[in-house]
Amino acid sequence: MSYKNILLDINEHIAIVTLNRPDKLNALNHDTLTELKEVFERLKSDENVFVVIVTGSGEKAFVAGADISEINKLNMLEGKKFAEFGQSVFSIIEKFDKPVIAAVNGFALGGGCELALACHIRLASENAKFGQPEVNLGIIPGYGGTQRLTRLINSGRAAEMILTADMIDAAEALRIGLVSKVYPQSELQSKAYEMAARIASKGQQAVRLALKAIKIADEVSSKEGQNFEAVLFALSCGTEDFKEGTEAFLEKRKPNFSNK
Ligand code: COA
Repeated sequence: MSYKNILLDINEHIAIVTLNRPDKLNALNHDTLTELKEVFERLKSDENVFVVIVTGSGEKAFVAGADISEINKLNMLEGKKFAEFGQSVFSIIEKFDKPVIAAVNGFALGGGCELALACHIRLASENAKFGQPEVNLGIIPGYGGTQRLTRLINSGRAAEMILTADMIDAAEALRIGLVSKVYPQSELQSKAYEMAARIASKGQQAVRLALKAIKIADEVSSKEGQNFEAVLFALSCGTEDFKEGTEAFLEKRKPNFSNK
């Protein structure tokens, strides 16, 4: 199946999802968000896919935000629905059971920054710029930004970014933990692919259980999280990958995971 505003490329267990409206700096209009939802639903049921990379087309933008020409027409009730729809799509990504890496290759503004925040790992190119410029438009972030940014980089820094609407560059994003690695633009896609391939080479049962345990940390107390972790650890002990991984170590050979 092909999409109007998204390119989907699946190769060696890695899916690359490219937001593709370069003439609008990959701004997320309703059609694109709907396609993004469909793409993730499709990738969820594709057993051949182990890791997903989300990126933007062109060298200028990851995603320059929600489409302002659509926002401009919203009334109050429509505004609520607009925010809830974006939140629901980004929640699908955040809760996705396979790792999702954002390869942020330029502007990640508003909904673009929020999309990156919903991904599990964020890598950036040196020219990437992050920002929540909504207050410049007389609105506030509506696709989870006030919550995820605050949890990720702390409330003071999130307040500064959201209330000033200032953009930060990739070096600052790295310094404050908004991204975990920064690469030259020409290397970003290959580095993201290499990381995805490293993850795809592990036992996927353990990868998915670990991701589940990591994601619950945002929602529950440390005690509850650790109880959950013990249950997931126990589940990992029941997998074929666990037998293979531990035996391979003891036999001093590389594991050959069946992902079961
Ligand atoms: N929604 C709709 N269209 C957008 C857009 C958005 N969020 N961001 C960029 N575009 C469009 C521009 O309108 C322009 O379209 P046009 O050529 O038909 O006029 C095209 O993308 C290129 O953008 P332009 O502004 O000309 O590029 P620039 O290099 O001068 O500036 C930005 C780049 C990112 C600084 C600027 O486009 C911008 O501020 N965008 C809006 C960011 C924003 O507020 N996002 C949050 C929305 S809630």
